[in-house]
Parts: sequence; structure tokens; C-alpha cells
Amino acid sequence: MRILLIGTGRAAYHLGHALKRSGAAIAGVAGRNREHAATLAADLGTAPFVPGDDLPPSDLRLVAVSDDAIADVAAALPMADTVTAHLSGAKPYALLGAHAHRGVLWPIQSLSPGAPIDLRTVPLVIEGEDERARTLLRTVAGTLSGQVIELPHEQRQLVHVAAAVAGNLPVFLLYEAQELLRKHGLPPELVVPLWNATTAKAAAGAAQALTGPARRGDTETLRMHLDRLTDDGDLRRAYAVLSELILKTWHPEKRGPQDL
Ligand SMILES: NC(=O)c1ccc[n+]([C@@H]2O[C@H](COP(=O)([O-])OP(=O)(O)OC[C@H]3O[C@@H](n4cnc5c(N)ncnc54)[C@H](OP(=O)(O)O)[C@@H]3O)[C@@H](O)[C@H]2O)c1
Repeated sequence: MRILLIGTGRAAYHLGHALKRSGAAIAGVAGRNREHAATLAADLGTAPFVPGDDLPPSDLRLVAVSDDAIADVAAALPMADTVTAHLSGAKPYALLGAHAHRGVLWPIQSLSPGAPIDLRTVPLVIEGEDERARTLLRTVAGTLSGQVIELPHEQRQLVHVAAAVAGNLPVFLLYEAQELLRKHGLPPELVVPLWNATTAKAAAGAAQALTGPARRGDTETLRMHLDRLTDDGDLRRAYAVLSELILKTWHPEKRGPQDL
């Protein structure tokens, strides 16, 4: 199995390392930036390619570029008798244009700079437009992870929404909480043990893990929290909306904090 990585960012880095560990032959790393392509290719023990180079033959081309660039990058690839897939949870394989055997391989994981992550327990969502693409993506994904699931675009989009709600928004809320502490001269690390314990508990059962004034229906404390946030209108609004959702779920008889 020869895999050509197209793109040199975070997804290419983590997928590339996982593929290498799984024993796949990485045919090369292609990128628009010579230095980025050379660095990742050296890391993965393969050859770098830049626009204008002849690309090596491969069984799978993974288009690991920003969602907005997928269509242009795919359009610039030569037609070839191979499977071509992108890595986006949000976009359809149709974005890959006129290529045959198009598909998607989307890891439901946040891929950030740092040590290569272990994908073995990360769910990988695949989709292929025909049997050749599906079979190949199933095989490749199966060597990387014990959890491979096939989902069409509409369902993948829904999972993408859920992943953003579960994976991105709480992280931003932690950032906001730490900014609030910093702004008032307090150590941002104060909320880290709480975050660690809460994420671990929430993974075992979110409804069970949720605590706090809104969950208890303690509108007096909620009102105090909102009063303390009057200098920060955006965070105050977000706090009010989320608390209202919690009240609606567990204390439908209480008024939402916007009305407090
Ligand atoms: N990061 C994640 O958490 C994550 C998780 C799952 C799936 N994905 C998917 O993985 C794909 C890549 O995302 P990423 O996180 O790796 O992004 P990234 O770290 O920002 O890297 C983007 C890559 O795309 C290249 N690129 C951007 N615009 C380009 C253009 N117009 N022409 C050619 N190359 C271009 C960049 O090249 P330069 O280096 O030259 O800028 C870079 O190699 C996306 O489809 C994303 O949805 C990401």
C-alpha cells in the first residue's frame, strides 16, 4: 500500500506518523511550501514534492490541506488510477472534483502541534464513492484504528457538529475562564484540577458529571455570576444562554437567567 500525503500541516503530520507506524509505505509528502514538505518528508523517511514535480505512483492520495483549499489542490493533481481522499469531516468527497474513486477519511480527534498521537482508539470515519475507494479506505483506516465507521456526508456533518460542540467549545470556555482569572490577577491554573477531573468524569457519563448552580437550579448564585460578568458582555451572554439550556433540561419550572 503506497500512500501519498498531500499537505504538510497538523493532520498530515499526525496521519503520516500513524501510517508510518502501521507499516504503510509513504510514497512522498507533497506541499506548496518546500521547507514544510522537506521537514515532514524527512520525519517520515520519504521524499518531498512541490508543485511542478512529477508525483510518485500511489494507491491512495490523501489530500490533507485546509478545507478551503481542498478543491483547488485536488484540481491541480494529475488524473491517476488511484483513490483520492480528503480528511475533512465537514466537506463532501465531491470537492475532489473530477478524480475517480474519491473518498473521505476523517479522524474524530483534535490534531494539534506536539508529539504524534496514537490513533488506535480514535474513531475514523470513512466514505467512498465506489467499492474500490470504500475497500481501500476501510483497509487503511483499519490498520490505524480499531474503530472505523462508514458514514455518508449528511451524517458526517452531524458528527462534525457534535465533535465541535464536545471538543472545541469546552476548550474555549476553559480559555475564557482562565482569562477571567488572569484579568483579576488570579492564577489561571486554579481551574485546571477541576477541568481534569471533570473531563474524565464527563467521558464516563456527561449528565451524571454535570454539577454547578444551573444544574442545581440555584438561580440566586446564577444571578450573582451574571452580575460579576457585567464588564464582559460576550462571556456574560454565553454564560446566560448555556445556563438557560441547563435549567430548561433539569429545572424546566425555573425561569432562564436572561429573565433574572
Ligand atoms: N487539525 C485537526 O484537528 C483536524 C482533525 C480532523 C481532520 N482535519 C482535516 O485535515 C485537513 C487539514 O487540516 P490541518 O489541521 O492539517 O490544517 P493545517 O495544520 O492548517 O495545515 C493546512 C495545510 O494545507 C496547506 N494549504 C493551505 N492552503 C493551501 C492552498 N491554497 N494550496 C496548497 N496548500 C494549502 C498548508 O500549506 P502551508 O504549510 O504551505 O501553509 C498546510 O500544509 C482539513 O481538511 C481538516 O478538516 C483536521
